[in-house]
Amino acid sequence: MDARIGKVLLTADRIAARVRQLGRRLARAYAGREPVLVAVMKGCFLLAADLVRAWPGPLDVEFVSAESYAGTRPGAVRLRVPRGLRSRIAGRPVLVVDDIYDTGATLAKVCRALEALRPAEVRTLVLFRKRRAPARTGPAGAARSGHRRPRRRTRPAAVRPDWVGFDIPDRFVVGYGLDYCGRYRNLPYLAVLRQGR
Ligand code: IMP
Ligand code: MG
Repeated sequence: MDARIGKVLLTADRIAARVRQLGRRLARAYAGREPVLVAVMKGCFLLAADLVRAWPGPLDVEFVSAESYAGTRPGAVRLRVPRGLRSRIAGRPVLVVDDIYDTGATLAKVCRALEALRPAEVRTLVLFRKRRAPARTGPAGAARSGHRRPRRRTRPAAVRPDWVGFDIPDRFVVGYGLDYCGRYRNLPYLAVLRQGR
């Protein structure tokens, strides 16, 4: 196996079981309506494919794409929304689906952009959400961990996902659609990426 693939946090079976359960819940939540599932590419391609097959109700699928990471480092979110999306979501319930929620900046930006296209509502689902330490680490916490991590610890953008598949540790993860520099999206499980040279 690739030396950079560390601990497997979620096996393919556990992910599949949770995605099937979410599909059934969504079908109930949207009963009698025909929502548009907007998948945030590229990380979401496996989740979107599995989720729509676990969702027996009528629905449409659209795509936007967002990029923010350079390697394992988060940066400004660049969002691409296809031409003509407005006419396909205006007046309809929209469910934004993303792979992972870290700072929340991506989901916030996608929701703002879609809300401008006048859908009936926007709700959100993420499969993985990173558990973050409290916003401020007091002296006790700093002493315990021995160092301060350089990354931002808070979640500035206040879009809370309506559905969450799994809460996971605050580590850089790959697999099930998630990449590191374009690699590892094809792993069927979710694993921690080891620090490399
Ligand atoms: P956020 O904007 O900080 O919430 O980050 C969300 C986006 O960053 C996701 O849609 C992912 O594409 C990417 N991302 C965040 N954390 C990871 C990770 O651990 N591995 C791979 N991609 C990640
Ligand atoms: Mg993404």
